[in-house]
Order: sequence, then structure tokens, then C-alpha cells
Amino acid sequence: MKEILDAILSADSTSADFAALKLPESYRAVTLHKDEEQMFAGLESRDKDPRKSLHLDDVPLPELGPGEALVAVMASAVNYNTVWSSIFEPVSTFGFLERYGRLSPLTKRHDLPYHVVGSDLAGVVLRTGAGVNAWKPGDEVVAHCLSVELESPDGHNDTMMDPEQRIWGFETNFGGLAQLALVKTNQLLPKPKHLTWEEAASPGLVNSTAYRQLVSRNGAGMKQGDNVLIWGASGGLGSYATQYALAGGATPICVVSNDQKAEICRAMGAEAIIDRSAEGYKFWKDEHTQDPREWKRLGARIREFTGGEDVDIVFEHPGRETFGASVYVTRKGGTIVTCASTSGYMHQYDNRYLWMSLKRIVGSHFANYREAFEANRLIAKGKIHPTVSKVYSLEQTGQAALDVHHNKHQGKVGVLCLAPQEGLGVRDHELREKHLPAINLFRELDERTIKPSRDI
Ligand SMILES: NC(=O)c1ccc[n+]([C@@H]2O[C@H](COP(=O)([O-])OP(=O)(O)OC[C@H]3O[C@@H](n4cnc5c(N)ncnc54)[C@H](OP(=O)(O)O)[C@@H]3O)[C@@H](O)[C@H]2O)c1
Repeated sequence: MKEILDAILSADSTSADFAALKLPESYRAVTLHKDEEQMFAGLESRDKDPRKSLHLDDVPLPELGPGEALVAVMASAVNYNTVWSSIFEPVSTFGFLERYGRLSPLTKRHDLPYHVVGSDLAGVVLRTGAGVNAWKPGDEVVAHCLSVELESPDGHNDTMMDPEQRIWGFETNFGGLAQLALVKTNQLLPKPKHLTWEEAASPGLVNSTAYRQLVSRNGAGMKQGDNVLIWGASGGLGSYATQYALAGGATPICVVSNDQKAEICRAMGAEAIIDRSAEGYKFWKDEHTQDPREWKRLGARIREFTGGEDVDIVFEHPGRETFGASVYVTRKGGTIVTCASTSGYMHQYDNRYLWMSLKRIVGSHFANYREAFEANRLIAKGKIHPTVSKVYSLEQTGQAALDVHHNKHQGKVGVLCLAPQEGLGVRDHELREKHLPAINLFRELDERTIKPSRDI
């Protein structure tokens, strides 16, 4: 592994140098263990501790298949899907690996008693499999997390529709929270040159998801002038949705849960900010009954910011707790676009407000290759910025996942894999200099306002 790292850190390594590197037989990776699937049985979600289920193991190097690349991972990031997999909710990810393994002898490689998790990476291509022409050893890349087979016609208009669509590092093995990762080469994108490894690794999953959900015609198709209600506006998805709304000439109405998060939204350029904790919204009277007066209160609050207008789009992901309110506050003909249900997936809403006001609920999930490319291109051009607030080592991934699980983080948290320290990998210093305040915005505000978490 040392030779690999030396080649990456050296300024004059060529593609041939990378191709000649000897590959190690094993590598360090953050894993879940199949025989621990039941370890949290009977506990409340909040009490399930990713530090107990996520391990740092030496695992064997997988065999490289056609159309694939083996990538040396300099940095990765924690996504909420790593929280879900580490608490084995709503289901254990080993079921995904078993099902994928039944598809072909090649996919059988994924069905193992351990799961290397992680759906983002920034790093360097070490080897490519048969039939790969677009990428070569030495290429500096990020990877998006859409894994498709594309053997059915269904996925050929929009690859998200492939019946064998999976999220790499969640529904497949050999993910990004590791020193090495195995991806399909149609997951690869050029690494934004003005960013460090950890900055480049952090937007991928959430940036692409927010792009499809809010901007793409496959999602809400946001346009200039739209009012967009964004739940969790300083979180992983929300920090990109807020940027897309601002950059696209829309007005974000940002919902957050404390002062620090409100300050981050303000620093991004948002003016309409609702602190859901301070304002005490309680959309459920009890476990079974919602309180429409609270929906109305939220709607009235939004109108204070918009000069009496309702929102054109609600960027939904909290799910059960907020969905009734989201459907209510959307304007006549507007769109509620949802990609998740963090607080519960059995939603309840008053359908009269949907059909009588001709609203649409749109489901959205990750992004196709083109959408992921466009989202990454905006990062590479310095139009949308990474939102890293804190960086952990690979050993600290359990703590990083716990912080995300308990909503203690801002924006995104990065993880250093092979990178020996933060700040490496910048190739375009001029572009970086131009955008430095925006690139550092989440980190600086986080350092000012949040006490560091204890490492384990
Ligand atoms: N389908 C996909 O492709 C896709 C992609 C990415 C993520 N997701 C899912 O989307 C969800 C959010 O992901 P993320 O990366 O944005 O997570 P995140 O970084 O934790 O941000 C989510 C934000 O939502 C807000 N929130 C949480 N619970 C809430 C509640 N009950 N009511 C109102 N707001 C609440 C919190 O902000 P405040 O506390 O400040 O309000 C939190 O910061 C997760 O369930 C994740 O698995 C799905």
C-alpha cells in the first residue's frame, strides 16, 4: 500500500507507473459482519450504536471483472445509508448482497460474510478490467454510486429504471470506506481539480441526489422564481438543495433545528430560515393523529417570507413526521418531491389537499450517470461547493456515523482513507483561491460553534 500512496503523492507518476504497481493481497476496510445482523435486536433506533457494528478489517482484494476499475481511495464520506446499514435498518444489507450474488458468477463475489460499506470516494484508478477504454491507471477520479447492469430495455432511457439498479457500497460490496474500492467504470467521474481529496469525496451521493430531485426534469424540474421549502437545509442533501435553489434563481425556504444551522444557511445566502425547534412545530398530536393547525401555522410562516405566496416545491426526505405538512403547504399545482423517510416510511397526509389542488408527489432516488456527471461538473466549475464540516480517519468511521445518526453534524463529514492528512490533492490552485471562502464555509462555522466529538 505504501508504494501506491507514494505514487499518488509523487508529482510525476505516469499512467505506466500506476499500471506497474504491484497490488496488495488485502486492504483495510470498514465492514459490517453478517453474524452480527441481530446485535441490536430489541433496541430503539437511536440506541443502536454504529461504533459497535462498524469494524476496521483487513479484507482480501476482490478479483477485477470486465468493465470495472480498482481504485485507490484517498478519501470517502459518511452518508446516511451507512447509518442505515450500520444499524441494520430498515433491513440488513446482507440480504441485498445475497440477492445480487444470485445474478451471475461475477456478482457472486459480492455475497460475503462481511460488507465493505461506503458510497463515495475520491482517489486514483489502479487497474481497469477488460473492455474499458475511457479510463486508465493514474486517472484521478470520484465515483458516483449508481450500479446498473443494463441488460434490460427498461434502463435505457434513464438508467435509474434498470431493474438491476443498486447503490454501490450499500446494496453492493467493496464500497468506498476503505483503502481500495471496486467500481464499475461507468461510475467514474473526473475529480474536481481545485478540491482536496476529502472535499472531492464528499458531495457525490447527496449532490447527485439533490440535483435529480430538485433540478432535473426527472425530479421537480425547479425553475427561476420558484419558492422551494427545504427540510434539513444544512444537512447532507439539504446543503446542496439550498445551493441549487440559490444558484438557479429560486428562493429557498430553509428549515433547520438550531441557531448554528440557521447561521450556515444564512452564510450560504438564504434569507428565509425557519428554526423548527425554536418555533416548536408539532405536526403529530400523538402517534396516530396529525394536527392540521400546525400545518397551517407553517404555511402562514412561509407566506411571511414570500409575500403571501405558497411554495412551488417541497424538498422532502424526513418523511412521516413532516409529510402531512409538506403536502398541505405546497401551492396549487405544486410538487412534493421525496427521496427518503428518515422519521418513518408509512406516511399520512390529507388527500383532499392533494387532488383538489392538483398537486403532485414525485418519487426520486439517486441519479443517473448523466445527472451525476452534471452535478459533479457544477462542483468542478466552482458553481456548487462541497459542504464538508469535519473530517475523520478511517478508524473513526463508527464515531462519524454515530454523529450523523444523532444529527450532530453539519453538511457532510469526510473520511480520510489512504490520504495521510487533510488538504492534499489540489491541482488547480487558482480556481480554489477564487472559491476558498465558499469551500470552507461549513468547516469554519462548525469549528466556531460545535464542540468536537470524542474519538473512539
Ligand atoms: N434516495 C436517495 O437516493 C437518497 C440519497 C441521499 C439520502 N437519502 C436519505 O435522505 C435522508 C437524509 O439524508 P441526508 O444525507 O440529508 O441526512 P442528514 O445529513 O442527516 O440531513 C438530514 C436533515 O434532515 C433534518 N431532519 C431529520 N429528521 C427530521 C425530522 N423528523 N423532521 C424535520 N427535519 C428532520 C435534519 O435537519 P434539522 O435538524 O436541521 O432540521 C437533518 O440535518 C436519509 O434518510 C437518507 O438515507 C436518500
